Amino acid sequence: MKKLLVGCVAVVTFAFAESNIAFSESNITCAKNYTCGDRISDMQRMGQAMQDMQSGFFYNNFDIVKAGAEDLKKTIVEVSPIKEEVENTDVYEIWLANNTAMKKRIQRRIVQYSEDIISRFGDGDVIQAIQVYNKITLECMKCHVGLRKW
Ligand code: HEC
Repeated sequence: MKKLLVGCVAVVTFAFAESNIAFSESNITCAKNYTCGDRISDMQRMGQAMQDMQSGFFYNNFDIVKAGAEDLKKTIVEVSPIKEEVENTDVYEIWLANNTAMKKRIQRRIVQYSEDIISRFGDGDVIQAIQVYNKITLECMKCHVGLRKW
């Protein structure tokens, strides 16, 4: 029985240490005091970048597609938990808001897909470029629906 208890304590301590790591990691990304307003404007910028790329497909204009993809690539890496979320003490809400591993995966994929769109469209492969574009939309929604429970 004693052994079992010790095991539990160890697990709890470990889980706690883990959430502390996630916490301090997001503190780093939040060092510049990323606000709710910053995030909304980054989101709007990404929405615009997506629309730009789509126009570029329809007008068959590489420069517009490329500008949109570059803008998206630059902006997605800025997205962070906001100060209030980082300071939240509710463990479940912290996990929900700062699921750092998942967020990083989404960000990495969006950066990669943006580059793929530029190269595919640049090669004249519009269909492939649009397929990659759709993958980006799904990554956006993974956060909106999956992580944020919208
Ligand atoms: C890491 C999570 C995450 C990812 C990834 C993400 N979003 Fe968001 N998005 C949010 C959150 C959180 C909000 C709500 C903003 C707020 O109120 O702080 C939001 C809101 C928005 C809004 C509404 C902004 C407004 O005016 O209120 C748009 C548009 C948007 N996102 C577009 C995108 C696009 C396009 C992508 C993909 C390229 C994307 N988002 C990827 C978390 C994310």
